[in-house]
Amino acid sequence: MSERFPDGFLWGGAIAANQAEGGYTEGGKGLGILDVMEVGSKDTPRRRTDGIEPGVHYPSHQGIDFFHTYRDDIALFAELGLKAFRTSINWTRIYPTGVEDEPNEAGLQFYDDVFDELLKHGITPVITLQHSDTPLYLSEQFGGWTNRILVDLFAKYARTVFERYRDKVKYWITINEINAINYVTWFGAAADDLTDQQKEQASYHLLLASAEAVRIGKQINPNFMIGGMLTDAYSYPYTCSPEDVLLSVQDKHRNIFFSDVMVRGYYPAYKIRELERGGILLATQPSDELILSEGVIEFLACSYYASHVSSTDADEMIQGNLLQNIAGKANPYLQQSDWGWQIDPLGLRISLNDFYDRYQIPLFVVENGLGAVDDTTHPDAIQDDYRIDYLRRHIDAVGDAIAIDGVEMIGYLAWGVIDIVSGTTGEMAKRYGLIHVDRDNDGHGSNARFKKKSFHWYRKAIDSNGRDLST
Ligand code: BG6
Repeated sequence: MSERFPDGFLWGGAIAANQAEGGYTEGGKGLGILDVMEVGSKDTPRRRTDGIEPGVHYPSHQGIDFFHTYRDDIALFAELGLKAFRTSINWTRIYPTGVEDEPNEAGLQFYDDVFDELLKHGITPVITLQHSDTPLYLSEQFGGWTNRILVDLFAKYARTVFERYRDKVKYWITINEINAINYVTWFGAAADDLTDQQKEQASYHLLLASAEAVRIGKQINPNFMIGGMLTDAYSYPYTCSPEDVLLSVQDKHRNIFFSDVMVRGYYPAYKIRELERGGILLATQPSDELILSEGVIEFLACSYYASHVSSTDADEMIQGNLLQNIAGKANPYLQQSDWGWQIDPLGLRISLNDFYDRYQIPLFVVENGLGAVDDTTHPDAIQDDYRIDYLRRHIDAVGDAIAIDGVEMIGYLAWGVIDIVSGTTGEMAKRYGLIHVDRDNDGHGSNARFKKKSFHWYRKAIDSNGRDLST
């Protein structure tokens, strides 16, 4: 009988630079958008301040201090048995404002050191070029991704890091959750408060930048595997009424439009019609068609946390959930996390099938996990059975997608494999880690690391190549 998970399956963990590194001005780093965003909560969006305000706590400034602790942390990842580790390069370490002609050598050296450390332990780096950390200067000076100049500046940055890490990194992801611009504009790395026209133009620029990066990367090293990434916003029709079903198709188009362009290399008809209806005219250049058609991705990566519901009846929306506009109505068949995200392992299998049916290219789950409040009374003995249960059921769903449905998968990366700052709220209390970090929402704590119960469970799962998921 063949293995449920193929040989070479990339079992791993993931974090992002801005949520972990800290060292926000060290090594010549410039400020990114996240460096002026304070902590929010489940119900309160993160506030972006006008520059750095005295007395305000900005969680990206210290993160979990990965900038200084990466060697010890990577040793822990090796002990955990990770085959792959995903992080991002912070653009502002390489080009502090984005417009410099020459890259910042100290920033380049930092990632050389991180990648060397991973390779020393036999861990494959999976590297995201842009994970919500557009240089602040580009946002303030040019309006972020609404401005075409960012495509060129991003291409310059991509070329620099592709050339530098040509022989160290094989797996690249261009833009984290490119469709997140639909929900949280700064998360999609654009400016705040976008009009529809600006949002569509920014989306167009993000897609062009992604395609341009693929073209550049493949010229520099044809063996690179370069993927694009979505936040998986799979949405069920709330009822079998044709109206709900049609709405679910339209909700799907809003998200999958991004992967349609990245995989197929052109804007799909439904999107062109939507833009026409909205009176939106994109500013384009003649060479763009070629860039999009040549810069197609080789695999589709996704983050998956929850499934969603499309309902034409607006009542009973999930309350107290920052991502209400993506989550929709509460699904009566599912439980919710402490942050109101609907837990749905089968939804992952369904959506992997959906992607694979549509594209027939390899898929890669590069983020999945449970953000929860841990009882930290005894930090060295955290019993996170709820997290194990979440991970086990989702890994099982990936295994079924591979073994039963024939979906081609590159790997599975547990999000926030070590506790980090939450992306949407900036809290530390929303923990995903298999490794506890002693740090609170205000940045207080010893910063010490402790293995949770889930650490030992995941090591066994990896060691057995997914055969043993028992607790
Ligand atoms: C994804 C992001 O949207 O979700 C991550 O790529 C983020 O950066 C993750 O951390 C989970 O969201 P949160 O808000 O729970 O940290």
